[in-house]
Amino acid sequence: MPQRCVQVTAAPPAGAAARTVGPSAGAARMNGARPAAAANASEAFTDETLGRMSELARMFLEIERREPVAAHLLPEDLAASLDLGLGEHGLPLDRVFALLGEVMAMTPRTCSPAFFNQLYAGRDAVPTAAEMLTALMNTSMYTYRVAGPHALIEHELMRHMASKVGYAEGEGIICPGGSIANLCAMIIARNEARPGIQDEGHDGRPMVAYASEEAHYSLNKAAAMTGIGRRNLRGIETDSHGRMIPDALRRAIIADRDRGAQPFTVIATAGTTVLGAFDPIDDLASVAEEFGLWFHVDGALGGSFLLSERLRPLLHGSERSDSFNWNPHKLMGVPLSCSPLLTRRQGLLKKHFREPADYLFQSDPERFDHGTMSIQCGRRNDALKLWAAWKRHGDAGYAARVERLCDLVQYAAQRVRSDPQLILTAEPESVCLCFEVAGARSEEICERLLLEQRAMVGHAVVRGRKVIRLACANPEVTEADLDRFFDHIRAIA
Ligand SMILES: Cc1ncc(COP(=O)(O)O)c(C=O)c1O
Repeated sequence: MPQRCVQVTAAPPAGAAARTVGPSAGAARMNGARPAAAANASEAFTDETLGRMSELARMFLEIERREPVAAHLLPEDLAASLDLGLGEHGLPLDRVFALLGEVMAMTPRTCSPAFFNQLYAGRDAVPTAAEMLTALMNTSMYTYRVAGPHALIEHELMRHMASKVGYAEGEGIICPGGSIANLCAMIIARNEARPGIQDEGHDGRPMVAYASEEAHYSLNKAAAMTGIGRRNLRGIETDSHGRMIPDALRRAIIADRDRGAQPFTVIATAGTTVLGAFDPIDDLASVAEEFGLWFHVDGALGGSFLLSERLRPLLHGSERSDSFNWNPHKLMGVPLSCSPLLTRRQGLLKKHFREPADYLFQSDPERFDHGTMSIQCGRRNDALKLWAAWKRHGDAGYAARVERLCDLVQYAAQRVRSDPQLILTAEPESVCLCFEVAGARSEEICERLLLEQRAMVGHAVVRGRKVIRLACANPEVTEADLDRFFDHIRAIA
């Protein structure tokens, strides 16, 4: 079994007494006698709580520095190592904080420079602090009355981001993830194509959506959930870079129209999940326009490239889209999740998501009651962290960040090209690099890198081949970190 990464002292029967976690001197202070739990299931947030929190945060940062890849345990081993069960009586506060420390120590390290596994990575101090404060304030974003300045902050963010897409008078709403943003876009596109569907339901005539064969799987879910049906989502052929081919799109639309179905939306991807490819947005906008279809851009990954003069051309034509999905929690380093859906025209979100609720939407100017524009009722505050980070870095800071990420991937690509044992899958367009190791199975390489605690990286299938996908989302990663990564690969292979 891989080594445990936290020092746990004294192990009485589960739940019986406090165990201590971590090496800090403050741990002793945390072990004082305390009542089992507050009688009314509410604990005051005090200086002591703050102290314990920062102590755990410091402990985690230290563990992450010392051990950038956590030991990977099987779920049953992990379950056996943790006191997971819930019971009739509460535990002493010290014990609960000790448990939090144990959980943190066993948590995969997504912020370390050895993490290349997902399209988000790294840690930025300002949005992280803002996120912690968000929990402390615990606003819900549905009404101006309870959100106060946070409603104005979200409004300003949406205005700024919409203007970066190129929408002169756009609007937006932060959704709980890019998948939900895509779902909301599909709902709007469906409703706009079928006025009356919100009241009468679907009349059964097939409606067809188009995205590239490399598009994110959330579109399948959206098609399944909106009554469109997965079979009516066409996966359009891509070129060798993984970009949708506009002529193939045109042909598919004409074929569907000729058989009596109703094409209703084209979805371009700006930064595909595996290859990081950018569909030719301007050309696809022309096809959508030709057939009068809603044009959505899934810029979950690549939306932030709009902030860089150098990278923005990859999104040329975005201003012609009707809606745009942009996930700052991916490449802009804000904690998960933060996923605005932006629309070109104002009033659309209210038109498709507003429902009367006199117990909620009451006297304040509805303009800032963002619950009337959302698929949700209670909604967490994902605005403050992004706003604070943007204040800190500005557009220019984010431009430098995404450019750095692309440079890192180009460096990695050069390593692959110069190594006869490595095979490049496709020339990288952005922050993902796919490759294979000659004579080795990609999934085995990934597994060994993890089990030997060298790096975390994932694999995917591209044109029928299992490849390693290196995702660079952390600008703190250095060329030396990438060299180390490839040295590990060589050692294993
Ligand atoms: C292109 C693309 N769209 C949508 C999503 C979904 O975003 P989320 O994970 O926030 O639901 C992803 C996630 O990786 C993605 O890569």
